[in-house]
Amino acid sequence: MDAQITTSPARIQARQTLQRLWQPGCDFLGTDVAILGGAMSWVSERHLVSAISNAGGFGVIACGAMTPERLSEEIAATKALTTKPFGVNLITMHPDLDKLVSVCLEHAVGHVVLAGGVPTGATIRQVRDGGARVVGFAPALALGKRLVKMGIEALVIEGSEAGGHIGPVSLTVLAQEILPHLQSVPVFVAGGLARGDAILGYLEQGASGAQLGTLFAASSESIAHERFKKAFVRASARDAVTSVQLDERFPVIPVRGLNNAGSRRFLAHQAETLKKFQNEELTREDAQLEIEHFWAGALRRAVIEGDVEEGSVMAGQSVGLVKAVRPVAEILHDLVEQAVDALVARDTRMAQPSLQGNLG
Ligand SMILES: Cc1cc2nc3c(=O)[nH]c(=O)nc-3n(C[C@H](O)[C@H](O)[C@H](O)COP(=O)(O)O)c2cc1C
Repeated sequence: MDAQITTSPARIQARQTLQRLWQPGCDFLGTDVAILGGAMSWVSERHLVSAISNAGGFGVIACGAMTPERLSEEIAATKALTTKPFGVNLITMHPDLDKLVSVCLEHAVGHVVLAGGVPTGATIRQVRDGGARVVGFAPALALGKRLVKMGIEALVIEGSEAGGHIGPVSLTVLAQEILPHLQSVPVFVAGGLARGDAILGYLEQGASGAQLGTLFAASSESIAHERFKKAFVRASARDAVTSVQLDERFPVIPVRGLNNAGSRRFLAHQAETLKKFQNEELTREDAQLEIEHFWAGALRRAVIEGDVEEGSVMAGQSVGLVKAVRPVAEILHDLVEQAVDALVARDTRMAQPSLQGNLG
């Protein structure tokens, strides 16, 4: 970028404005920019997490189904690659949750993100008493307020545009529901974000920062298979669809990912299972389990083995904005510059004489 443009008074002022807007997020995370790399099972490991933190953002390890020993190894390996702050995302229904929290505390991990359900007060206390900060997810205002009362110190609000397991409400609406009424803790917005100007909009609504997943999954440092990343570059927003439930008696957890042979086969599998249930070849419980087991191991198959046809290619709608595989530092740099551009453009628009005339 032109040095004159970069250092123009308008740009310097815009940078200061952006900094003021997300300073609570930066302070909470201990980072230069208030952008978290959302935890992604199989994807958010030492390389991507350290790359995000080294570039000034906040990387988060996805513990997923890891054992405490595996998690300990991953944290140690991440620490070998960065001295910057990073966090660990734990799924609350993991059978060894207490031990996983202890592992994080033994390694002096600064932030623990509790995902996949409402955490207990005991888990929140365990994290805080151990000296780490605790982050939760708020799918609705009432739950967000309850989590804050329980001791959660920051919240992520994730819209249905996001990749992976999702709630039913878009970020546009969640932000309006939650941001004006929850100002006692930093709130990070997530879902469908791929540009700095969009993030800026939410900062101006009261958010303290943003969490992105899809964009980082397709970064150079992500260990995702080349075919997984290529599928991201090729896809448009409308290819990132939610899993379809065929019969309300057999609930399917909504997951957003790229439409492929696997997702089409999932529909046929549900239909066959339903038939077996109706013919009394399967009990209701066994039929439900058959449906749930369909995707077992499928994310790994796509991310690690590169089977993007049969595997689960979890991706948010922002996948349509992924145009190339790029280094994390470049992605973060562009997000900041786009926010600054938007602030400068707004100031320029507001200073136009015709507009002043109209207002005056
Ligand atoms: C491939 C993939 C895997 C994910 N796995 C997890 C996970 O294991 N735990 C979790 O809390 N969120 C998971 N997410 C959600 C991300 O952390 C993040 O909130 C989301 O990607 C943000 O929306 P975006 O994809 O539109 O940027 C996953 C997302 C993707 C794309």
